[in-house]
Amino acid sequence: MTDPSPAPARLTLRRPDDWHVHLRDGDLLAAVAPATAHQFARAIVMPNLSPPITTTAAAAAYRERIVAALPQDSRFTPLLTLYLTDHSDPADIEQGHADGVVTACKLYPAHATTNAAAGVSDLALLDPVFATLERIGMPLLLHGEVTDRAVDIFDREAVFLERHLAPLLRRFPGLRVVLEHITSADAADFVRSWGPNLAATITPHHLHINRNAMFQGGLRPDFYCLPVAKRERHRLALRAAAVSGHPRFFLGTDSAPHRRHAKEAACGCAGIYNAPYALESYAAVFEAEQALERLEAFASEFGPQFYGLPLNDGTVTLERRPQLVPLRLAHPSASGAMEELVPFHGGEQLAWRLMT
Ligand code: NCD
Ligand code: ZN
Repeated sequence: MTDPSPAPARLTLRRPDDWHVHLRDGDLLAAVAPATAHQFARAIVMPNLSPPITTTAAAAAYRERIVAALPQDSRFTPLLTLYLTDHSDPADIEQGHADGVVTACKLYPAHATTNAAAGVSDLALLDPVFATLERIGMPLLLHGEVTDRAVDIFDREAVFLERHLAPLLRRFPGLRVVLEHITSADAADFVRSWGPNLAATITPHHLHINRNAMFQGGLRPDFYCLPVAKRERHRLALRAAAVSGHPRFFLGTDSAPHRRHAKEAACGCAGIYNAPYALESYAAVFEAEQALERLEAFASEFGPQFYGLPLNDGTVTLERRPQLVPLRLAHPSASGAMEELVPFHGGEQLAWRLMT
């Protein structure tokens, strides 16, 4: 037997993108946007603000606020999305796409997750929107969970696939769909089995944790997100999909910051804040799966290829240089008082470090 090749000390990748992130607004935007801009060249920015970004005009204004929150020398490009409602206007979507203001539309089933109350109550209502997206080649991004309370929360993604996604894809065979933040073997199998118009993003946290993390020694709100983490066999299926080199699985962090007091509450918010160490987190997974050579395609190639966008110029470098992730990150709120965010991997040591 030959010795395994020595572990590399550096990893250089084409500049990567995040195909699903929540950048929030106001003081929280100012606190979190630089982390994403540091890690990624571009990001698909979710529109679930309060009120949500439902029009092209609102998206253009939000883009200005994002850019204003970045360091002066930042080369980061936010890619804006529209939040679909029962009353979305296909003409505005088409105009926003033609003007280059919006890149995709996001569909939240009504009440599925944070700020989804104004989401879509019945997919059939949106057939004119889907027909427009199909015609203009604009991707539809799906939060893929049923909201039927009779369905167990751990089954809501799997039920969505058969109840809603398959019929939608059959009705609009030319529609390009990204099933966001998949959490189950069922979803990974579904994406693989479908044609070239269906892809999925995979988060770092769903590659690292299973549902036990939420209950380890007590209730752990920092591991609560939606769709909720599933059993170990699903985590393993997601890891296999992510490192497989299949071009329809790509990077989307679903970094979803909530202030610490909003997470550690009687009714805590769903969302994991992973932006500051996202690449390091994915690198840990690809290394453990002996697939570091496939990280670049997952992080930097498959996403733009699916969206029909150019690959980024330039590179980033990860060094094998252990770093301890802080337990908390402090930032000033609008009132000047300090607030805290808990980063994913807080208190752990990560083997890789993104160099500037
Ligand atoms: C997201 C948020 O907080 O905006 N939360 C989450 O748990 N992922 C919403 C979402 O993407 O479902
Ligand atoms: Zn999200």
